[in-house]
This record gives sequence, C-alpha cells and structure tokens, in this order.
Amino acid sequence: MEQPKLSPETEQVLKENNERKVARGIAQSPSVDLSYLEMKDGFPVMPGKKPFVGHVHLLGRNALEALNAAKSKCGPIFWTYYGSQLPVLQILDEAGIDILLNKHTSNSYIKEQMPVVTGESISGTDGQHHRNVRKAISGAFTPKGLTQAKVGEAISTTLEQHLEAWHHTGKVPIFPKTKEIALDAVFRILGIEGQDLSVWRHYYEEFFLGMIPLKIDFPGFPAWRCRKARGWLERQVGQIVTKVRETNDHDSLVGAMTFGKDESGNELSETELIHNILGLGFAGSETTAAVMAWSVFELSRRKDIWDLLCEQVAQLENMPVTQSELNKQVPIAEAIFRETLRLYPPAPFEMRKVSTEFELMGHRIPQGIMVGLSLLHVSRNPERYSHPDEWQPNRWFDEAHGHNPIESCQFGSGPHVCLGRHVATLEGSLFVVKLAQIFGSKGMQPRLVGKMPPPSFLPFYRPSNKAIFSFSG
Ligand code: HEM
Repeated sequence: MEQPKLSPETEQVLKENNERKVARGIAQSPSVDLSYLEMKDGFPVMPGKKPFVGHVHLLGRNALEALNAAKSKCGPIFWTYYGSQLPVLQILDEAGIDILLNKHTSNSYIKEQMPVVTGESISGTDGQHHRNVRKAISGAFTPKGLTQAKVGEAISTTLEQHLEAWHHTGKVPIFPKTKEIALDAVFRILGIEGQDLSVWRHYYEEFFLGMIPLKIDFPGFPAWRCRKARGWLERQVGQIVTKVRETNDHDSLVGAMTFGKDESGNELSETELIHNILGLGFAGSETTAAVMAWSVFELSRRKDIWDLLCEQVAQLENMPVTQSELNKQVPIAEAIFRETLRLYPPAPFEMRKVSTEFELMGHRIPQGIMVGLSLLHVSRNPERYSHPDEWQPNRWFDEAHGHNPIESCQFGSGPHVCLGRHVATLEGSLFVVKLAQIFGSKGMQPRLVGKMPPPSFLPFYRPSNKAIFSFSG
C-alpha cells in the first residue's frame, strides 16, 4: 500500500519541523502587528482583497511577490480569497505539509469543484476507497513498472519527433510546444500513435475547459464542451482497455492498471479504470510541460550548465531509457529537473478541506474550512536552501538519489502524493538530454527571443504562451 501511514522519514522531517517551529515561535511572529488588518476566525486576511475576484488579481500577477508582501504584514498563515466566495487559509511555512497527510483534511473538494474533469478518479476520493484504487494501479507507476511498460522508449520517441521539428521551425513558443510533448508522451504511453495523437490533443484541450469555474452548461459553453470531449475520450479509453483484456496484455501501462489488484485482491471496476486512465493526461501534461519549458529558460541563461550537460551527453553511446541508466550516464539531467521543479513548482498551491479540527503551528484550524500550502514558499525556504531564489542544479549533485518529503513537496505528499512522479522525472530528465543531443551536438544553445513575458501563476506556475525561444550557435 502506498503511503497510508507516515514513513519514518516523513515522521523525522515533521519532528524536525516541529522543533524548529517551537524554536522560532512560529505561531504568529510577535513582531507582526495584526491590529490594523481585517481578521476572520482569528487569522488575518491578506491585504488587497477586491469584490468578486478576492486576491486572484494579485496571485495571478505575481503570487510569489504578493504572498511575500502579505507575509511581512500577516505572518506565515493568513486568508487568501480565490474569488469572493472561496476563502483559503494559506500557509507559507514547511510545517504546513501536515495538511497533505489527510489525517484531518480531505480531497473531497476537488470533485465538488470540478466534477466533470475529476469523475471517479483518485484525486477526488479519500480513505479506504482511495487506498484500494491506488494499491491496484500504483505498481504500473513504479520504476520497475515503467521499465516493463517501456515508458522510457515511448517518451524518447516523442521527444525526438518534437525536438527535430523545433530544429526546423526556428522560433519555438516554449510552453505550448512543451505541452504538446507532454500530452503526446502520455498518449503514446497509453498506446496511441501517429495521426491519432493530434485528434486526442484536440479533445483533451476541450476537456481542460472543465477547469474554468463557470457553471453554465449550455451548448458551446466550457462546461458543455468539457462534458462532450469527456464522452469521446471515455469511449476511446474504453476501447484501449478492451484490447488490453482481449490480448491479455499485462506489461503495458494500461495492462498493469487493468490487471492490478487492490488490498482485497480485486481489480478496478471498468468506470474506475477508465476515469483514472483519463486523469493521467490531465495530471501529467501542464505540470510536466511547465518544468520542461522552465528548464529551457534556465539553460538559455546558464552556458556553464548547458556545456556540462552537452559534455555528459556527448559521451553517450545509447539513449538511456530508465532513470537509473540515465543517472549513471548523465547525472546532471536529473539535477536540472529537480532544481527546476524546486524553483518553479508547477502546482504552486496544494489545497485540502478540513474534515476535523486540528492544531497547526500553535493555531486551532477549524473544521469545514479550506487550507492551502504554498509550495512556492516551501521550495524556497532560506533555512533549507542557500540562495533559494537562484537556479543551482549543483545543489543536487552530491545527493544520493532519494530526497526527503519536504524537498520533493512539489509532487505533494501523503496518500495523494503524485502517482506519476517517476514518469515526470524520467520525462523531464530525458527532455534535457535530447535537447543537448539534438542542439548541443551542433554547437547550439537555447536563446530567449526578445524579453521574457510575465509568467502565469494560476492554476499552474508556467511561462507565458508568448515566451519564445530559438536555438543557435
Ligand atoms: C512535474 C510534473 C508533475 C508535478 C509537479 C505533479 C504534481 C502533482 C501534485 C502536487 C499532486 C497532488 C499531490 C497531493 O495532493 O498531495 C499530483 C497528483 C497526481 N499526479 Fe502528478 N505531477 C506531475 C506529473 C504527473 C504525471 C506525468 C502523471 C501521470 C502520468 C501524474 C499523475 C498524477 C495523479 C494520478 C495524481 C493523483 C494522485 C492521488 O490523488 O492519489 N502527475 N501531482
């Protein structure tokens, strides 16, 4: 069973957190004067709240800066409003990782807020039901499962096709193009090939419209288009599952998910299976695409790291297709991925609904409210990372290849920790290797065309669609 209880390592990290928290008197910094701030349930409200939008105008423009400014006035825990109706108690301190353990919190809000996108997938379920489904499908997502399903090969083919095309087109709008890669990689892992890839991409883009919080369900509106696309995708995924059953294919990723067993030895129901397969394209595209895009940005600014990467890649005889091969031959690749993930966590705010009242950082957190953890802040904690705002892949060079739950918080934590984290790590690492292989071998480096436009922070932290890169010597 995956992470139903706390691992000794997590326990240790949280214990250290607690000790540090007590030592720093984190409950609410005594130097912070809350008297002039709006208060709600004993917590300050972030300044700058507007009617209808709440704090979205500030968070969307520059969440890092806006929350830092709020922290200096409110301390490390305060209310932010995602629209006037959705208050979220935002936590900027590492100790907030407690909320992801789902001891006193739940994920039920995801299904309430995005029912058509979420369906019966694991992200919106909790407790025994969630554990059962995870148990049945998690084997497929372990490094061993990925090797068996030849996931590295599928990613490598996808990267090669897209990056060769970049070579010919010249100017590359980086995020839209890495998103195409990430979607095609998931589709190819599911066994979809050739021309079908662009059709699937079209339906997924329609499906993503379900994230727009507009409840009107008339023809042509986002909710309607999302539902329609979901219908098409469900039918296609159903056919893939049927084929897997007919051919008794246990090796592919869909095969391993289909024949995987839960704690009672049962396979998933057809609905659970289809909904969870559908969820992979949703969970694994914008996130992975954002990290790939940011790594191009950083590599364009750091010739020293680009040269080191190219040097290691030039020694390769064959393209590695597993993480362990890759880490032996191009150790800098995973360091680049991890550092990019740290500085630019794609899902910057992890949220939960409080199911039972609990204590955190010396506060009573009431039942029924929404709480959030800013991974932007946990990932840039100056007490954990030297020069936390700088991109320094070398901070991971000397690490054995595990890392503690705080360092990998960009993938979440606890029972809902990202199921696809090994896929994402492999894809992000292979991406930079292929970049160096295709462009570095010709003496080229990524270059920003014009200025870097402001990034997007909501719902994902990613470069603007208008950020353009070229590759030249
Ligand atoms: C850099 C890329 C990625 C990042 C940063 C990321 C991040 C996350 C985060 C923060 C969560 C929520 C964890 C929590 O609530 O504690 C999550 C859940 C999930 N991710 Fe990822 N993810 C990435 C790539 C992927 C990929 C490639 C896949 C699949 C191919 C995937 C599949 C999932 C699934 C299925 C869940 C739900 C797990 C559950 O609720 O039990 N993710 N991911």
